[in-house]
Amino acid sequence: MCGIVGYVGKQKAASIILEGLKRLEYRGYDSAGVCVLQDGQLEVAKKIGRVENLTKEAAKHRFTGTTGIGHTRWATHGGVTDANAHPHVSSDGKIALIHNGVIENYGQMKTFLTGKGYTFKSETDTEVLCNLIAYHYAKESPGAGGSRFLESVRKTLTHVEGTYGIAVLCVDCPGEIVAARKASPLILGVGEGEYILASDASALISRTQNVVYLKDGELVHVTPTAFFISTLDQADVSPVVDKITWSIQDAELGTYSHFMEKEIFEQPVALENSMRGRFSEDGSTAQFGGLNLTAAELRQIDRFLFCACGTAWHACLVAEHLIERFARIPVEVDYASEFRYRNTPLHSNTLFLVISQSGETIDTLAALREAKRKGYKALAINNVVGSTLAREADGGIYQHVGPEIGVASTKAFTSQLMVAAMIALYVARMRDMSFSDGVQYVNALKGAPDLVRKALLQAPHIRAIAKRYAGYSDMLFLGRLSLFPLALEGALKLKEISYIHAEGYPAAEMKHGPIALISEKCPSVFFAPNGEIFPKIVSSMQEIKARKGPIIAIITEGAELPPGLADEVITIPECHEAVLPIVSSIPVQLLSYYIAVERGCDVDKPRNLAKSVTVE
Ligand code: AGP
Ligand code: GLU
Repeated sequence: MCGIVGYVGKQKAASIILEGLKRLEYRGYDSAGVCVLQDGQLEVAKKIGRVENLTKEAAKHRFTGTTGIGHTRWATHGGVTDANAHPHVSSDGKIALIHNGVIENYGQMKTFLTGKGYTFKSETDTEVLCNLIAYHYAKESPGAGGSRFLESVRKTLTHVEGTYGIAVLCVDCPGEIVAARKASPLILGVGEGEYILASDASALISRTQNVVYLKDGELVHVTPTAFFISTLDQADVSPVVDKITWSIQDAELGTYSHFMEKEIFEQPVALENSMRGRFSEDGSTAQFGGLNLTAAELRQIDRFLFCACGTAWHACLVAEHLIERFARIPVEVDYASEFRYRNTPLHSNTLFLVISQSGETIDTLAALREAKRKGYKALAINNVVGSTLAREADGGIYQHVGPEIGVASTKAFTSQLMVAAMIALYVARMRDMSFSDGVQYVNALKGAPDLVRKALLQAPHIRAIAKRYAGYSDMLFLGRLSLFPLALEGALKLKEISYIHAEGYPAAEMKHGPIALISEKCPSVFFAPNGEIFPKIVSSMQEIKARKGPIIAIITEGAELPPGLADEVITIPECHEAVLPIVSSIPVQLLSYYIAVERGCDVDKPRNLAKSVTVE
């Protein structure tokens, strides 16, 4: 997620801004930039990739000024390039701007400004906004009362449709920043002789605990000695200065006990972020900026081959189900570690894809290199901007869920399921899926974050169940169709962090062997969503029950189990097939998490595991 930092004070602005941007890194971003007002100029450094890259770039500039703004961008309009990174400077050199959000009517504004002689160096909506401020600044008469700089920003914002958190510099106004928000967070830190503006308190907490939370529709004008808040329609606002009561360490974990817990609860927002800007204007299909494949090339594809490891491999299995089901294109899934040595024959119209949260998993990289060596286009679904995988793949899709710190993957997994669902939609709409089915599918995906929010409300209930089951040493996870991979994932989660032995199986396969394990000492977790196959799943449950196996059933709302069949029932919302695996992930993540906590395990750093496996 994108971030904003601004500084006005007596210190060199650039280093404070870069430190703030580092603190915002956990939110996820694809490029970063800083602008400092010095020697009568707006001096800019910006770079794709990590803040570390920007820091190196910034060292080449002689940043000495004490007024500046910095940004971590998360591209919505225009690809991930240095030119599209923020800050943007207006073509007359007067105004610099950083922006979180989307300016919906930027097209009209651009046409208007082009007619007035303004020029553009990027493809962003932000640069258009920047030039519109410059246009109003040029028009605003210097003696018009109030600040000409402030009024030009205010006037511009009255023309904006969309969302924004912005911070603006004006070349004629050293020591000043104008900032404003609508649906994007913005906080002003009031320090000792300095002001720090940020989109997230973690970026300013090291300098001050006194903050003013701006509200939607408010602007703040920061000057060297004071700050003034007003509304878009020029009403003055008396500021309320709050005190932040937590420390930098808390800022990282917030109120959560573990990163895994935090990341589980971040999933609604993570899913929104994975979808952002990725639906077509007519709302009937998905769109991706970085596939580097033309529509014609994609239409030629008659087979997909996915490779990954661990949890990401489970995401591939869900992708297989969704692509085959909705786009009717055959999909093969392989472990990256097997593929790299197996010399699998590849057909010419196969699209090769790897999925990896870290983008550094050695087996996944090797699989990608093997496919590329054979001459195939190889794409990556990946969460870490600038990772080795992202650099080596021919194209791909960033997950945009921010850093995943817990070793057990949670938010990255559901985001991979979301990306898989969007790919299935995209290729299905190129083939047989109708416009109206596409619209319905898109709406279902858009509704997923709320369904996940609803599923998360089950946390206290699941915690109580976890207390009863933490003492077992074996568990089975059983699911069918798109939830068979979820059974594998549920078992993996439990193994990883609680060290309970667990296996995942297709529910009906259980009677071909694993049922031998069943006794009162081996509980089974069943995915039992409503649908055609529900009665078959109920039969499998009955087989377990007849052998005294305890049952935890995860059902969708409205599904009715025979009384007394399940020992525990967890209910999740009813949902579209493409969303079901995402929503079904929540109860098994929570169950494993709470069981591990109950057993006193080191949830975020389980024994023998690393976040990314960079050795063979
Ligand atoms: C997930 O909980 C695991 N820690 C592990 O299976 C992981 O998914 C696997 O190592 C792949 O990692 P990657 O997504 O970074 O490539
Ligand atoms: N829409 C802007 C862009 O694509 C801002 C994106 C952001 O919020 O970082 O550059």
